[in-house]
Amino acid sequence: MQLYERAKQLIPGGMQLVSRRPSRYAEGVSPVYAARGKGARIWDVDGNEYIDWASGIAAIILGYCDEAVDDAVRAQIGRGVNFSISSELEIELAEEVTRTIPCAEMVRYTKCGGEACAVAVRIARGATGRDVVLFCGYHGWSDWYLAANLAGGDSLGAHLLPGIEPIGVPQGLRGTSVPFPYGDLAALGETLDRHKGKVAAIIMEPLRSEAPPDGYLAGVAKLCREHGAILIFDEISAGFRFGMEAAQGYVGVTPDMAVFAKSISNGYPMGMVVGRRDVMAPAAQMFISSTYWSDAIGLTATLTTIRELRRRRTAEYLWDFGAKLQRRVNAAAEEVGYGARLTGLPIYSHVHFPTDDGQTRKQLTTLYIQEMAKRGCHGYASFYLNGAQGDAELEQTAAAAREVFALLKRGTDENRLGELIEAKLQNEPFQRLVR
Ligand SMILES: Cc1ncc(COP(=O)(O)O)c(C=O)c1O
Repeated sequence: MQLYERAKQLIPGGMQLVSRRPSRYAEGVSPVYAARGKGARIWDVDGNEYIDWASGIAAIILGYCDEAVDDAVRAQIGRGVNFSISSELEIELAEEVTRTIPCAEMVRYTKCGGEACAVAVRIARGATGRDVVLFCGYHGWSDWYLAANLAGGDSLGAHLLPGIEPIGVPQGLRGTSVPFPYGDLAALGETLDRHKGKVAAIIMEPLRSEAPPDGYLAGVAKLCREHGAILIFDEISAGFRFGMEAAQGYVGVTPDMAVFAKSISNGYPMGMVVGRRDVMAPAAQMFISSTYWSDAIGLTATLTTIRELRRRRTAEYLWDFGAKLQRRVNAAAEEVGYGARLTGLPIYSHVHFPTDDGQTRKQLTTLYIQEMAKRGCHGYASFYLNGAQGDAELEQTAAAAREVFALLKRGTDENRLGELIEAKLQNEPFQRLVR
């Protein structure tokens, strides 16, 4: 927290990613600055060891300091990382990606997820000659996305954070970015009709931690075709956690384009925009260009991560491991007679607390994060998995959950939740529509 005070003097907002703010965890108790990580664990600057159940906010998929990825990166550093001409790795990775991801016939690279979304939206607008983008869920920080709040309401409230002011976003973008609710085909159809002939793209997370309603995504794809709009799946957090064909393979719906980042390169900065040839090819005529998008470290890290994910069958492992984790955490809750449940798809489970009251849920969430952190389990009230998590993490977490659920039950029964909370109450729900 002393470092955080120092940071706030120098860095507007204190840090670069909202999800890393202390207020997103149990502020004052959770770790704030990491010194190092290895496998499933991180160590903070005070020397405390934690299992990182947020997996580097989803950026770590194989585990911290994975030897195969890091060895490949170290070897690449010895050969050079950014040249004044291109690297063959760019083509090698594109070949690997087009063999792996169903919708991928052509590929562009970026350094992060928000950039990949912005590039995809630019390509879709350029390819269709239309301006309006319909979106569902979170897609980064760019003008095209935050423009949704220029209309005066709180369009981003249910998709990103409530109350975001589109400060610095040009007024001229008003009406170019329009939200739609997840799971409601009729609502999407009406939104498309309202903007008939103007919609360039629909960008959405196909799913997060719950399976989509039957036929929903196929219905979205059909509506897109009928309206001549490009369907973009945002697979930045989901991606290869679902399998080698990514979330689109899992749901059995192939979009026109997709964006990837955090699950592809085990923490090294890298993003990708992939898509069908006819949709991607017009990008050759658009000015979409950056020095660092083809740096050899990102390319090597991504190529090695994808090959290792396939070789180790990591997604299959994560599905099995996540199911075990759900069983163990739920058994811990049952043993102490507490009504919390770890629910959702096993690869990204959430703790569901037994209350309908928003304020009580905030208290339970904060107390849960606080007490799990004290027992060496860092994260939100959810679990992002990576391939380095194993039996030791399962045992430690089940034991911690048992004690923490007992405390939450006692605190609720005795009406003492507020008293038990040492951290600041969570005040920034990073709410997402697509759960
Ligand atoms: C679905 C989705 N889209 C976009 C982003 C933005 O990615 P980045 O933080 O790499 O810019 C994220 C990051 O959490 C995400 O989960």
